[in-house]
Amino acid sequence: MVRRRMPRPSELAPLLRPAPLTLDRTAAKLARATSIGDLRVLARKRAPRAVFDYTDGAAEDEVSLRRAREVWASVEFAPTVLRDVSRVDTGRTILGHRSALPFALAPTGFTRMMHTEGERAVAAVAARAGIPYALSTMGSTTIEGVAEAGRGGRHWFQLYLWRDRSVAHELVSRAGAAGFDTLVLTVDTPVGGNRRRDTRNGLSIPPALSLRTFLDGARHPRWWFDLVTTDPLTFESLAAGGGTPFEVINRVFDPALTLDDVAWLRENWSGTLVIKGVQSVTDARRVVDAGADAVLLSNHGGRQLDRAPVPIELVEPVVQELGDDAEVLVDTGIMHGGDVVAAVALGARAALVGRAYLYGLMAGGEAGVQRAVEILRAEVERTMQLLGVTRVDDLRPEHARLRSPIGSATHSNGRRAAGASGR
Ligand SMILES: Cc1cc2nc3c(=O)[nH]c(=O)nc-3n(C[C@H](O)[C@H](O)[C@H](O)COP(=O)(O)O)c2cc1C
Repeated sequence: MVRRRMPRPSELAPLLRPAPLTLDRTAAKLARATSIGDLRVLARKRAPRAVFDYTDGAAEDEVSLRRAREVWASVEFAPTVLRDVSRVDTGRTILGHRSALPFALAPTGFTRMMHTEGERAVAAVAARAGIPYALSTMGSTTIEGVAEAGRGGRHWFQLYLWRDRSVAHELVSRAGAAGFDTLVLTVDTPVGGNRRRDTRNGLSIPPALSLRTFLDGARHPRWWFDLVTTDPLTFESLAAGGGTPFEVINRVFDPALTLDDVAWLRENWSGTLVIKGVQSVTDARRVVDAGADAVLLSNHGGRQLDRAPVPIELVEPVVQELGDDAEVLVDTGIMHGGDVVAAVALGARAALVGRAYLYGLMAGGEAGVQRAVEILRAEVERTMQLLGVTRVDDLRPEHARLRSPIGSATHSNGRRAAGASGR
């Protein structure tokens, strides 16, 4: 039998702790977001449908992206216990410079379309967080604008290369002059991927007013207000013209590139050179032999070739092939700081995240990017503590393995998972 009594007012007082009142509804919502998935839900409400889909979507049936996310989810960590993890160092040297976290913010084109604060917001957050940010050739902010907004931070420049070298030459010189220390040459884009959501939504770059977008404006007035009351949304590094993303991309990409172009860039750039979009051991070796300092294993977040290799599954064999010849970076599908920890444990020098920060940007501009990075940072730190590891440099393959995703009996990693089961 439970005996009941009347509570005293002094006992009730500590239970009644109202949440601090904040008039900034966006700040309140961002503060309540506890995962990148939560930010994605907010982003979906804040951004017009076509903009959200452009960011969230991938090519064809979106299998590349789905598989990548499944494989991250299939990671099995192996914790060690009774280690003092009261202090954790999440720092990592990436391409010769110390980063406060083992990840960088990936290049994403036309970032001001997601939110008018765009690349400047991303650069500012990255600088404060002490992590690198790569500006895209298809960016909607100038190289110099990013250098200014992210003063004190580390910047990389993502390059698309054309047979006509003059534009690339000028961009590379400007990036160098603005203090960018690394070039990231993207090579998985001989032509544009078929992003069906964009076609379905009738997305054009820059967004145009049609009956559909006009009606959408009623549901996302803030976004449209920002669009028409701030600097016009344009590509700032190249004259790409307008049209559907597919048309723009095919005007920008050059299907005739070869390994000679990597060698040309190597001769014309004295900084660090990363090749982005490498998807096989053979190509990793080829680009490193042509002068690359690092390879970024990536399938462009699933936005180019569908049913492409899952980048994290390539890390182990590529690291084995390259040894100390080059650093290995990885991206595609990362939604959790634990994914970043797994990437490093499996041999990557660092990871890159794209959509994770763009969801934050769409959800709340700079404050949203800040929240995204904070969520990832906390997840990295907590995962390390729960693994019993105090330094990123101490993460080893013993700490994480890839399991075959449920329901994919033929998954290539099944063999590896079986092989690793004895540890
Ligand atoms: C909206 C969007 C735009 C992108 N634009 C570029 C780009 O201009 N250049 C590039 O090399 N990669 C671009 N990417 C690919 C990213 O750099 C990165 O490889 C990818 O986002 C990683 O996957 P994740 O988004 O799942 O993290 C873009 C990705 C997204 C989502």
